[in-house]
Amino acid sequence: MSRPMQSARIVAASAASIADAARLLRDGRLVAFPTETVYGLGADASSDDAVEAIYRAKGRPAENPLIVHVGTLAEAEAIGTFDNEARALAKAFWPGALTLVVRKKNTARISSLATANLDTVALRIPDHPVALALLKAAARPLAAPSANPSGRVSPTTAAHVASGLGPSVALILDGGPCRVGIESTVVALDEDEARLLRPGGVSKADIERALGHALAVPKTAAARPQSPGQMASHYAPRARLRLHATGAAGDEGALNFGAARLEGARTAINLSARGDLGEAAANLYAALRALDDSGVATIAVVPIPDEGIGAAINDRLRRAAVR
Ligand code: TXA
Ligand code: MG
Repeated sequence: MSRPMQSARIVAASAASIADAARLLRDGRLVAFPTETVYGLGADASSDDAVEAIYRAKGRPAENPLIVHVGTLAEAEAIGTFDNEARALAKAFWPGALTLVVRKKNTARISSLATANLDTVALRIPDHPVALALLKAAARPLAAPSANPSGRVSPTTAAHVASGLGPSVALILDGGPCRVGIESTVVALDEDEARLLRPGGVSKADIERALGHALAVPKTAAARPQSPGQMASHYAPRARLRLHATGAAGDEGALNFGAARLEGARTAINLSARGDLGEAAANLYAALRALDDSGVATIAVVPIPDEGIGAAINDRLRRAAVR
């Protein structure tokens, strides 16, 4: 049987395929891999050429820095400077859906393309057995943004990765659907004040509890975005989004939550019939893709509670609604 030339190779994650993937990464190739948040598009973070290939494959602007994934806190501390607060957050939430932006050490062997020439670096230990095994086998830090074309919806399955990115990806490791389903929370600890740059899989309240004080939340309207994840239009499906909807037209798609269900839509998906925000986050990106694929021009979205991971869901919906 002939297969489409443009699709990347998907293989089930196993000891053998992870070893293959690690070899490809050491050769400077791109490998997509599962994390608990979304699939990442990985490359050797120390190689300019490999990191450059990430930007090319995604069509990502060079001024938007990447997250560097590591397997241990010791590896993270070899790359960035951890003060007491950074170490406390790493100990509380790693492995997990929290990315820490800290000052980059001069001795760190990280491509300046990965950090977009900043003197800071974003670090995370992912909480996924395949990602951790891959980091160990590759034996180097991996730069990995979400494995989607820049500005589009992030992938939560291997098939999502294959549909968005072409043959520039040498291999896609399939580890099933992502458990959290929404990107990591990004916190900056490079200045006096801990700042929330992007809401995500770990809630602001949980981080503040671990810190013992409130996080500063910089205004997204800042002249120069402190984190390009703050750029207004992002995570966008092709259809338009109509937020806080209380009804739907017959030609619209509906995105429902719990008991909040829009009547009369052409097609509808409930993010969590039992009204669970964690389940809703895990289903969000696949639901946006499915409604897009149904061909509707507009997706009406019910109000989603802003508590816990609901804040990250609402952040992504707001950005997806910007055109
Ligand atoms: O869950 C996740 O974080 C996923 C998985 C694959 O780990 N990755 C991800 O990467 O979402 P990406 O590239 O799509 O988002 C990285 C975010 C962006 O908002 C970027 O601007 C920010 O991290 N970032 C990276 N380095 C930074 C730095 N030095 N200073 C400020 N923000 C930074
Ligand atoms: Mg992304």
